[in-house]
Order: sequence, then C-alpha cells, then structure tokens
Amino acid sequence: MEIKIAEDVYWVGAIDWDVRTFHGYTYTTHRGTTYNAYLVLDEKVALVDTVNVGFGQEMLKRIGKLSDPTQIDYLVANHGEMDHSGAIPEVMKTAPQAKLVCSKKGEQTLRQYFGDQGWDITVVGTGDEIKLGQKTLRFIEAPMLHWPDSMFTYIPQVALLLPNDAFGQHLATSQRFADEVDECLVLGEAAKYYANILWPFSSLVIKKIKEIERMGLEIATIAPSHGLTWRNPRQIIEAYLRWAQGGAEPRVVVVYETMWGSTRHIAHALVEGIQQEGVEVSLYALPTSDRSDVIADLLEARGILVGSSVHNNDMLLNMAAFLEDLKGLKPIGKIGAAFGSYGWGSRAIPHMEEKLRQAGVELVEADLSSQFAPDEDELEHYIEFGQDFARKVKER
Ligand code: FEO
Repeated sequence: MEIKIAEDVYWVGAIDWDVRTFHGYTYTTHRGTTYNAYLVLDEKVALVDTVNVGFGQEMLKRIGKLSDPTQIDYLVANHGEMDHSGAIPEVMKTAPQAKLVCSKKGEQTLRQYFGDQGWDITVVGTGDEIKLGQKTLRFIEAPMLHWPDSMFTYIPQVALLLPNDAFGQHLATSQRFADEVDECLVLGEAAKYYANILWPFSSLVIKKIKEIERMGLEIATIAPSHGLTWRNPRQIIEAYLRWAQGGAEPRVVVVYETMWGSTRHIAHALVEGIQQEGVEVSLYALPTSDRSDVIADLLEARGILVGSSVHNNDMLLNMAAFLEDLKGLKPIGKIGAAFGSYGWGSRAIPHMEEKLRQAGVELVEADLSSQFAPDEDELEHYIEFGQDFARKVKER
C-alpha cells in the first residue's frame, strides 16, 4: 500500500521492528524504529534519504511500486550517519546517473564512509534549490542537529519539512502519522529521543526554529527520518522549544547504584523526605534500570540526586557510565546532589559532584555520606535533606 505524505510525496522507508539498541548500546529502542525515506514524484524524481544497511531492498521495492527506481534523478542525503546513508550504494548502483545531493560536511562524511565511487555529488547550502518540475527542493543547513553535516529539505509547494533526525522518535508501528497513535506514546518517544540525542544542542535547536520562523516558511507537515510524521507540526515544535529552554516540572529523579544495600537505604530515605513535601519523585537503581529511560525521565524533572557505594575508592561503574553520559548530554536548569555509603574512605561523592557540575547541574551542598550503613540519626538527616531538596525544587 502506498503511503502518501503530501501531494506526490511518498514514504518509501523501512520498519525495523527488531532493533533494541541504538548508537551502540547507548540508547534502548524498546519499540524498534523506522528509517524513513521519501520519494518525490515530478518531472524529475527525487529520493530524500535512504535506510539502514540491510533495508535497501525493502526500500527499493517500495520505490518500485511508485516509479522506476533506475530513473531516480536526485538522491538527497540530509545526513551521512549509516542509518540513513547505509543504502546509498544500492540506490546509486540502481540509478548510477542520479545526482547525490548533500551538504559540504555531508560530502566529506559520504566520501569517508564509502570511498571514491565516482558518484556525481552536488554540494548545497542554505537557500539552494533544485527544481524538479512543479516542485522545488529547498535546503536548510542544520549543523549539529545532530551532526555537523545535518541539513533539512523543504518542499514549499506542499509545505513539507524533511528534517532528518530532528523531531524523530524511535518507534516502529504500522501507522505512519503521529495523530494515528496514542499521544503519550509518541510524545514520550520523542522526549526520549530529544533527551538522549539532541539535549546537548538545545541552544542550536532554539536558534534553528527561530531561523525557520524568520524565513516565513509555511509548514503543514514535518516528516522526520525516524518514527511518525507530524501533521500538527506545532505539537512537536512547541515540545522542542519547551525541552530546549529547560522547561521542567517540580519533580525529582533519584538514581543510585549499591553494593550491599546501604546506599539503597539512603536513597529510600531521600525519597521519603521528598514525598513528605508532596513532590513527585522517581527512584531508579542501576544497572537494572535502563540508562536512556532514566535520562528521558530527567528531561522534564528539576532535581536529580545520584548515589553510589564505593569500588576501588570511587563510584561504582554503572554510575560512572550514567554520569559520563549525563555530562555529554548537558541537561539544562537542574539542581542536584550526590550521596552514598563507603567503607574506609572514598572519593566517590566528590567525583559524582564533579561530574554533576561538569554536566551543568547546580549543586546543593550537603554531607550525604554514611560509613558502612546509615544509623537512625543519619536516616533522619537524609529524610530532612529530601524535604529541603523538594522545597528547593518547588521554589525554582
Ligand atoms: Fe543521526 Fe538517525 O542518524
């Protein structure tokens, strides 16, 4: 069945129902994903983006139901990462006369991934256009959303924005439009995607949205390269602006890793104190909790507390990985603190505090450490700190 995105624009991508991790093992895709490619039919035929390695034949088969794949005139590569460029060699073998269109950095990416294949490459920048006949492909560079090579393709005649990774979700479904599935599901997956991929580039997200607004482009549809198409573009644009500006709720995320249970006792006392102040809190133990889900939950929470017991005089390894990830993601507008138990001495808490600081989290100073196991007085101290922290979260 053909899937029309706009007049003479069709989805010809692939659904990956099976994938459960992405970007190595940094991101869990519990619901799979899609690799979206779009075929634009006009006097000239353009394919915008391709699919991951292993899905090229599925895409070419979809194209074949609409048009002769050997007659593709333009192949636009909005982004060179392999989940979108993986099938470029198959397309170029099928339609060797096609011009491959990409940004300057995109050309570098593709040449380094695929070597010199003799492809006819056209480099484009913001404002450049390719006329297909009735329709035009207009390009907007979008560096660091999320790679230096990233760009958007816009088709003014149908008010369609094809922004590649931006506004995407890792979500495999039988549906192709966001308004056809549960709103919480699609926005939840979009939030997870933003938190784990685009969070570090929030200032650029705001700048790009403002730039596009200044251009006065009419946008009726946003069709990203993963997941579902937005027929109500304001829904995802407003969500992106809120996330990029650090919009958050009075909510706390507590994450900990424990060796013999003492750090768990501290975590539970903190949670008790936070609850007593009527503030919503989520508690996650590592490594049994999924790191990318915890990051997603943190997106709209104002407070974060991290705890670890001690291994080799430092924090446990899953907490180290979590904080390293957080440092790279640069969450916006959070307050936080570190806690934990220790045996004979530890650099775990100062190191966790340092990582939080490097992530941009504003630290609330407090002694939140116990030797071996917290006694009753210490547990009372943690409950009181939880209350105090919750009040700070409410006041922000
Ligand atoms: Fe940056 Fe979906 O690849």
